Amino acid sequence: MTSQDIILTGDRTTGSLHLGHYVGSLRNRVLLQDRCQQFLLLADAQALTDNMGNYLKVRDNVLQVALDYLAVGIDPAKSTIFIQSLVPELTELASYYLNLVTVSRLERNPTIKDEIKQRGYERDIPAGFLTYPAAQAADITAFKATIVPVGEDQIPMIEQTNEIVRRFNASVETAPILVEAKAMVPEVGARLPGIDGKAKMSKSLGNTLTLSASADEIRQAVKMMYTDPNHLRVSDPGQVEGNVVFSYLDAFHPNIELVKRLKDHYRLGGLGDTVIKQHLEECLQELLAPIRQRREEYARDPAAVLAMLKEGTARARQVAAVTLSEVKAAMGLNYY
Ligand code: TRP
Repeated sequence: MTSQDIILTGDRTTGSLHLGHYVGSLRNRVLLQDRCQQFLLLADAQALTDNMGNYLKVRDNVLQVALDYLAVGIDPAKSTIFIQSLVPELTELASYYLNLVTVSRLERNPTIKDEIKQRGYERDIPAGFLTYPAAQAADITAFKATIVPVGEDQIPMIEQTNEIVRRFNASVETAPILVEAKAMVPEVGARLPGIDGKAKMSKSLGNTLTLSASADEIRQAVKMMYTDPNHLRVSDPGQVEGNVVFSYLDAFHPNIELVKRLKDHYRLGGLGDTVIKQHLEECLQELLAPIRQRREEYARDPAAVLAMLKEGTARARQVAAVTLSEVKAAMGLNYY
């Protein structure tokens, strides 16, 4: 990665972000903002692809997700945070990209496939939902992004984006206009398990810990956390793999050596769940206390947050407009 890299990333505004988002992408985004230009998109329009009618939810979560960004340390002086629906250039770009993807390719997108199954749509998919990968390609390419820090579930979106990029560039006579992007997925904790040990932390499964969790909620979550069901007595050898407490220690504990010693001890027997949970609770409390505090501070002045979004949106719109006009000119849609 170099200072030339451009970052575009974002989240649907359907709910507050949780610890899974934190390890999956937020942590990377906070680091990246010091090294390159970064755009963060509040994807309200994408949220509507399966939320028509739930307008209040989508609208309210624009502010909630913005607060999550600010709380984890995204700095609006370094990163541009903006509202997707207020950049109509993205919709226009997407409408052209739709002609570069086939329905069968959209239906084969693994993320879309999973989501269709999750929602029980079968064949009754909102057309906007099936085609949102083309809109996401517009989000990414409008900024000529080269790096997209996201959770691993988004990798198929970037692959499909790059296909669109190649097809578009090959379809015009001019020098290549669109730029391919790389997904950036963390090595550790790419897929943080839920506190119940289910494969993934996700709101629909009700196994999350939100970024605004209170000290008490953190305590409760760690207490209930799934460990090794066969580790009945402290003296029993315990299993580290699939043990959520250890997955979280790997993802969050700053002292890797200590975690390694705890694992060895646990495997041998003689280390109780209470002790490993104590270590985990301590580091989660330490991580989340300043995040919670910062969030509360920003939440006291929503007008200031909106003013920041307005500025970011204006900046983002300028950039997207340049790309759109290049794309249109390359297609000959520059009549006068
Ligand atoms: N699909 C992402 C999500 O489900 C949100 C998103 C929209 C996005 N456009 C994007 C992510 C562009 C990265 C890049 O939350």
